[in-house]
Amino acid sequence: MPEPYDPAQFRRACARFATGITVSTALAADGTPHGFTANSFTSVSMEPPLILICVDHRANVLRHFEQATHFGVNILAEDQEALSVRFAERGLDRFNGIDWHPGATGVPLLGGALARFECATRQSIEAGDHLIILGEVLHAEWENGAPLLYYASAYHTAQPRKRD
Ligand SMILES: Cc1cc2nc3c(=O)[nH]c(=O)nc-3n(C[C@H](O)[C@H](O)[C@H](O)COP(=O)(O)O)c2cc1C
Repeated sequence: MPEPYDPAQFRRACARFATGITVSTALAADGTPHGFTANSFTSVSMEPPLILICVDHRANVLRHFEQATHFGVNILAEDQEALSVRFAERGLDRFNGIDWHPGATGVPLLGGALARFECATRQSIEAGDHLIILGEVLHAEWENGAPLLYYASAYHTAQPRKRD
């Protein structure tokens, strides 16, 4: 018989899934850039090209993603751990002094990211304490490099597997 549901156990089991890390971004109605660290990014469909992120209902950024017609996703490189920490920290002007520029759709894109997506918001789905936001990718670009990884609640770098 399975054990009764234990939230801590669920969280720790989910943390066994290694992910990359994104900074996902949107513009507020007044044009101010907003963004947050998210590892819930998933590629969903090739035709049309769809991706998703999940945003916690408690996040201050949520309202900006809800009102925006577009959002951006920046996949962080291994030397961008400080950006991941910064975009998860409260009470900062997160874009102050960092390398970013608006994309063609206006969404904030980060310099040095491994990949950047500009998306049109297509659907928002209520899912428990998170909102799933599905975006159609209008533009995607990428660079060679190594990813920043998140596993068991800690940052990691990728090691190519040794073959004999
Ligand atoms: C590695 C990592 C991954 C995260 N992934 C998500 C995520 O997918 N969705 C989410 O809502 N919050 C995620 N968070 C937490 C948010 O980054 C954080 O709660 C948010 O920045 C809070 O700021 P805000 O309330 O000012 O928006 C993650 C944090 C870290 C460190």
